[in-house]
Amino acid sequence: MKLILIGYGTVGQSFTRIVLTKQKELVEKYGFSPKIVAIVDSKGAIINPEGLNLKKALKIKEEGKSVAVDRAYGHLNMSGLEAIENVEADIMIEVTPTNVKTGEPGLSHITAALKKKMHVITTNKGPLALALPTLLELATQNNVYLKFSGAVGAGLPVLDFAKKISLGDRIVAIRGILNGTTNFILTRMEEGIPFKNALEEAQKRGYAEADPSLDIDGIDTACKLVIMANWIMDKETTLRDVRVEGIRNIALEDVRDAMKRGFSVKLLGFINEDLVVKPTEIPKQDPLCVKGILNAITFKLELAGEETIIGRGAGGKETATAILRDLLEIAQTSVIM
Ligand code: HSE
Repeated sequence: MKLILIGYGTVGQSFTRIVLTKQKELVEKYGFSPKIVAIVDSKGAIINPEGLNLKKALKIKEEGKSVAVDRAYGHLNMSGLEAIENVEADIMIEVTPTNVKTGEPGLSHITAALKKKMHVITTNKGPLALALPTLLELATQNNVYLKFSGAVGAGLPVLDFAKKISLGDRIVAIRGILNGTTNFILTRMEEGIPFKNALEEAQKRGYAEADPSLDIDGIDTACKLVIMANWIMDKETTLRDVRVEGIRNIALEDVRDAMKRGFSVKLLGFINEDLVVKPTEIPKQDPLCVKGILNAITFKLELAGEETIIGRGAGGKETATAILRDLLEIAQTSVIM
């Protein structure tokens, strides 16, 4: 199966690292041998229809260069759209940084790939939060998959879990921690570390968005609410429908004061009648009261009551496992492996 990878930052690189280490297992266990034929970063592309040398691509990135510098296969300044147009592949993986204003360049990449009848896997929240119903329709029209398991919860299969528990039942409300970076920051603040230092640490560990204001101002959580509302609850909503307040104004004293009273401050997202993101004090014994990079989401069901799912909600490796999951699901229903 031939893949194009567009976006070669934390998530993209983690994905190629996993493909390299799991190569043998993928063939033995699933009969699946993915061939990455193009990788595009912000400065160009590297293309080989026979399959790229991923070790070499990773080494170039570790040296801080663009994959396009490769002498034999590099294409300086080639864009994602040009790669989609010129390279034959079965699947396009889109992991460029989230842009919530226009969804670009991810939105155009996804649209072009679907029109070219490639399956698409993405973890890019911008295009999904802005245009999920349209993109799903386009995928259906072209008889291909659009998969985005890693867009909510990173490696934690929040969307799949929600779909499963909705079968025969109905999710009436959702509340949860949907952003790892802010949970990491708030946890560090409970340990007395100032906001700024905690954010820097989250950035170094590859948890934060390329533009970390998306995390701390609650936009990333808002995107995830919109994706869930549309995908799980059939609520036609957009980012404009979400009331958003981030954690910029939370001081160390607020966190300490809440702790003394047996509470933790968390950035929560809510889907009820309305979609809301806001810092909220929750009791220590609430199942949502998880620490560090963890996400925790409670689904309220009409029949089954409340169910909570908890797991690591950010990070390159974590998100890349969701891509692999989507990929294997597509491979298992496809003739080309
Ligand atoms: N920046 C996001 C977070 C990455 O911290 O949750 C995962 O979507």
